[in-house]
Amino acid sequence: MTAARRRDRAVYTRSHPALFALLSLTRCAPVVRIGRTVLVHGTDQYREVLTRLPLDRTATGTTGGIAREVSGGDGVLFDQAGADHRGARRALAAALNASGVERLRPLGREVLERRLAPLADGGSVDVVDVALELAGAVTAELLGLDLAPRRLADAARVAAAAAARVHLPGPLARRHRSAAATAAGQLLALVGDERAAMLAVAAVNTTAAAIPRAIAWCADDGRWPQAADPATREALADELLRVLAPSPLLPRVAGADGTLGGRPVRAGDRLILVARHAARAHDRDPSVSAAQPAATAQLVFGAGPHACPGARLARVQLADALAAFAPYRPVVSRARVDRRSALPGWAVLEVSACASP
Ligand code: HEM
Repeated sequence: MTAARRRDRAVYTRSHPALFALLSLTRCAPVVRIGRTVLVHGTDQYREVLTRLPLDRTATGTTGGIAREVSGGDGVLFDQAGADHRGARRALAAALNASGVERLRPLGREVLERRLAPLADGGSVDVVDVALELAGAVTAELLGLDLAPRRLADAARVAAAAAARVHLPGPLARRHRSAAATAAGQLLALVGDERAAMLAVAAVNTTAAAIPRAIAWCADDGRWPQAADPATREALADELLRVLAPSPLLPRVAGADGTLGGRPVRAGDRLILVARHAARAHDRDPSVSAAQPAATAQLVFGAGPHACPGARLARVQLADALAAFAPYRPVVSRARVDRRSALPGWAVLEVSACASP
C-alpha cells in the first residue's frame, strides 16, 4: 500500500473503524444482505439502484430524510421529490453550468493565492482552513449572500456533523437530535431558507473533505509534477476525486419491491450504496495515463436524475487548488483526523513548502 493510501485510510479507520471493517470484509460480493439492510458494493449494482430502482427519498435515515427531520421543513433540496425539487434543481443546474462555474472560479482562486502566500516565506498552511474559506466564499456567492466565508462554512459544517449523529443509536439520541435542530436553526437563520441551507451543507462539507485529502495524497505520493502540468492536472483531479470518494456512502431506502443484481429487494429495505467501492477507489490507485473510465469515476457524484449538480464546480476547484499548491511541492507537517465531521476528512492538515515557485 502506498504512503498516500495509508495516510488517507486513517480518515475512515479513526472515525468509523467498525463500519470500515464491515464494508471491507463484505466488499467481495457486489450485493450483501444483512437482515433488511442491503450493502451495495458493485459498480453496476450501485448505478442500477440510483437509476432504476424506485427509492423512498424522504425515508428516515436517508440523506433526504435526515434533511427533512433536522430542518423541520418540507420541500428542501435533499428531499429530492416533487415538482418543487425539480424546479429548484433546474435553477441550480443553470447556476452551475460551464459559464456559471467560470463566474465562480475567480473567488476560489483569490482565496488560494492569498492563503498560500505564507508557504513562500517558509511558513506552513492548514489546508482545511483554506478549503473552508474557499468553500464558504464560493457558496455565499452562489446563494447571493453577503456573508463572511468562514461564518457560512462553519455553520454548514456544524449542521452537517450534528445531522450525521442524529441516527446514532445509544443513550445520547435525544441530545443529538436537539443539537442537530439547534445547529440547523443557526444555519437557517444565517442563509434564510431551507433550500439554501441544504445547498450550503452539500457544497461546503464535500469541498472541505476533498481538497485537504487530495493535497495530502499529492504530497505523500509525489504527484506535484502532474499537478503542476496543465496537460495532466485535470485528469489527476478527476482521478483523485474518484479515489477519495469524498461522500463514500449514500444511505437510501427502497420505495417499492424490485430486483437488484437479479436478487429481490423489498419496499422499505435500507440500501447502503458504497460509492467508494463502486468507483474502485479501494483497489485502483489514481493514474493519469490509465484513468478509470469516466462512467466509473463520476459515480462518486451519484448517478441518474439526482446526480450531484456541483460536480463540475468540484472538479474545477480541485484542479485550481492543485495548480496553486504544486509550485511549493508541499509536504505534510501535521495531520489530525476529524472524528466528528459528517464526511471522512481531516480536522487539521498542515503543509509546508519544499520548493519556492
Ligand atoms: C467533491 C465534491 C462533491 C462530491 C463528492 C459530491 C457528491 C454528491 C453525491 C454523491 C450526491 C448524491 C447524488 C445521488 O443521489 O445520485 C450529491 C448531491 C448533491 N450535491 Fe454534491 N458533491 C460534491 C460537491 C458539491 C458542490 C460543490 C455542490 C454545490 C455547489 C453540490 C451540491 C449538491 C446538491 C444540491 C445535491 C442534491 C441533488 C439532488 O438532490 O437532486 N455538491 N453530491
